[in-house]
Amino acid sequence: MANFVITIDGPAASGKSTVARLLAERLGASFLDTGAMYRAVTLAAIEACVDMSDEEKLLSVLNNRKFQFTVREGRMAVCIDGVDVTERIRRQEVTANARYVASAARLREKLVEMQREFAAREKKIVTEGRDQGTVAFADANIKFYLIADAAERAKRRQIELRAKGSSENLEQIQKAIEERDKSDEDRAVGPLKPAEDAIVVDTTNLSIEEVVEKLFCFVEENA
Ligand code: C5P
Repeated sequence: MANFVITIDGPAASGKSTVARLLAERLGASFLDTGAMYRAVTLAAIEACVDMSDEEKLLSVLNNRKFQFTVREGRMAVCIDGVDVTERIRRQEVTANARYVASAARLREKLVEMQREFAAREKKIVTEGRDQGTVAFADANIKFYLIADAAERAKRRQIELRAKGSSENLEQIQKAIEERDKSDEDRAVGPLKPAEDAIVVDTTNLSIEEVVEKLFCFVEENA
């Protein structure tokens, strides 16, 4: 395992990814976006027209394709069989179907193993997801858990989606976020929940910069 591991978990659109990336930058640490891994397997399964509820088939997608996760210009770049899919994994269809991969026990096991392998190559790492502090890196040095009101998270997601040309209304976006929360919290394996020793940060009324500053100060004082 890396010498120093910081985990950031939390629900969809809580700002984890941006915060983790900026915090990693400030700390001179590497950054791992584990949601990108679930998204990549989901994309490969959709493109192979696999029955998403068939765990065996999903597992063979993961085993038979070559997934590469690297950090490029501070962001997580994803390739499947050498093809760059960094943008494609953000599609709405992928977001909506990621729950199948996320609730398949054997896929989670394999993805957690890949996350640990990734971390083992780094000196310092900030890793974000749903189960980083509870399962993947239960002995991490510092664990954060970000929360924010669903209405605020929907607003943030709408700004992101508008920038990509999508015109979904706020109500639809909030409903989708709440459905994702429920599916993440209710699954039997690696459910979304704070680790017992996680520092919970409510980001509802904070800007990204304020959240990063808060986390950075905590790390400086406690590392
Ligand atoms: O964080 P992001 O929205 O990119 O994650 C995509 C999906 O992958 C989430 O909806 C969640 O169900 C799943 N996920 C997970 N465990 C993680 C990271 C993501 O189950 N560590």
